[in-house]
Amino acid sequence: MIVLGLGGAVGHDPAAALVVDGQVVAAAEEERFLRDKHAKGKQAELAARFCLKFAGLKPGDVRVVAYPFAPVSIFGPARWHYAARHWYAPDRAFTALFNGNRRFRRNARAVFAALERLGIDRERIRFFPVEHHLAHASSAYHLSGYQEAAIMSVDGVGEYCTTWFGYGEGGEIHKLKEFFAPDSLGGCYGAITEYLGFEMLDGEFKVMGMAPYGNAKRIDVSKLIEWNERGFRVNTRLVNCIGWRRYKRPAKGAPEGIGTYFSPELIKMWGPARVGDEIDNPYVHIAAAVQKQLEDILLALTKHFLGGRIAKTKRLCYAGGVALNVKANQRLIQMMGPGHELFVQPAASDAGTALGAATYAAHRLGDTVQSLQHAYLGAEYTPEEIEAELKRRNVRYEKCASVTDTASELLAQGEVVAWFQGRMEFGPRALGNRSILGNPASRGVADLINAQIKYRERWRPFCPSLLDTVAVEILQTTHPSPYMTFTFDVADAWKPRIPEVVHEDGTARPQIVTALSNPRYYELLKKFEARTGLGVLLNTSLNRRGEPMVCSPEDALNMFYGSDLRNLALGDFLVRK
Ligand SMILES: [Fe+2]
Repeated sequence: MIVLGLGGAVGHDPAAALVVDGQVVAAAEEERFLRDKHAKGKQAELAARFCLKFAGLKPGDVRVVAYPFAPVSIFGPARWHYAARHWYAPDRAFTALFNGNRRFRRNARAVFAALERLGIDRERIRFFPVEHHLAHASSAYHLSGYQEAAIMSVDGVGEYCTTWFGYGEGGEIHKLKEFFAPDSLGGCYGAITEYLGFEMLDGEFKVMGMAPYGNAKRIDVSKLIEWNERGFRVNTRLVNCIGWRRYKRPAKGAPEGIGTYFSPELIKMWGPARVGDEIDNPYVHIAAAVQKQLEDILLALTKHFLGGRIAKTKRLCYAGGVALNVKANQRLIQMMGPGHELFVQPAASDAGTALGAATYAAHRLGDTVQSLQHAYLGAEYTPEEIEAELKRRNVRYEKCASVTDTASELLAQGEVVAWFQGRMEFGPRALGNRSILGNPASRGVADLINAQIKYRERWRPFCPSLLDTVAVEILQTTHPSPYMTFTFDVADAWKPRIPEVVHEDGTARPQIVTALSNPRYYELLKKFEARTGLGVLLNTSLNRRGEPMVCSPEDALNMFYGSDLRNLALGDFLVRK
């Protein structure tokens, strides 16, 4: 059966995923084609066109369109909880009760319009809405390859649900417990992200990166969330607030200011929101304390609701935006203990719900979903297409006899290499196909990359890709880590050897590369190891600040000539400045 999953249901990160007879054939984020980070408010049309073209299918071949947003019944607790907790904004409370699926209907209309533009006949397909968190859960469970596992999904909010616990058994997903808006761990972290001067749904990584520089004990965050192991309640007088409770940030062209998810009361408590990139005190301590609070609550809830399942299955599958909090994931792995596994799907945030909805529908309709083998699910370009683009732009280039030889030599010399190969990654992490690479032992290489691509996000650490043969020694664990979704403590002996990829707190967020998962990247790492003794490369995504990751050779060349990067390997071709 041919199932097309379309994401973007919650207003950001639309993506498309194609599942054919239970096999994930293609998946990509719309932002990559649109060249607009997070593609807010858009439908995944270009991504859907790519998926169909890649699979050699026509729009008329699609049988099922799965969508990660579903109607929510008035007979369940979700809408009542939302209404009761928003008593101070009666219009929202009334809407939740009397017109609670308004957003679903609006979403469905937008999807049908997109399908029409794609040439997919609404009358000839089955439209399959999947609850948002069920889609997250499915993306983690069905792609993990585990038969039995505990499952959790944590994000800002889906329809109403924000935090979901359940389990998978023999292909079926069962719900155990849900929490509803405004009680949202992701939402609270996002509100503090805004307060700390970063963009919500984008800057959460920076808050996490900032946290190790602060001291959690210096700020009391207990007022933000009241909690114990059975549940939590967010204080909407401070965060996750709407309407008149919101702080309105002054902005040009908006006389009323722009509403934020935190309140003037929070400012009274902690002082003005951070602006610019200069002042750190007390903000680094706030980041540290909020990160610790998130970890503590997540661990307590997981233990309470899933502890039994985890003990039985030794497996936990996890998705939702909060699942990209790699530090919390490290603590989850530590809590579970040796012999246990955490699986975090590479596109754990909303892009992954396209994949989640599609796999859920495929399973429900009788297909057996195959586990995910790698995250290289995006667009790919032939050598002829790459060379045509080089010629079109009249660029000087050479064809390498072995691009891994040439690139490993440049890297060993301390050069930075932009590395464009094969199929684009699905999810926010570059995994060796749309990457900027450096020598992790070469002091100052991180600063050099920042300077060459005009990054100024000093809170974002650089991460390593490492050979499977050295991973255990460096990371001191046998836990898998194919997608850069966890951090681990780097062995003391290795810290001085690869200083450019070890974070302030002695951790690294690794991608462990195997010969099977990415043969060409593996070969590059092998040759780099032969030259330097290090089976490790610094790997960051191929894009400039504020831009989505590069998709096509044209994007790569635009980026290359719009930056101070000096070496670009495009397939077997090398361009140098
Ligand atoms: Fe989500």
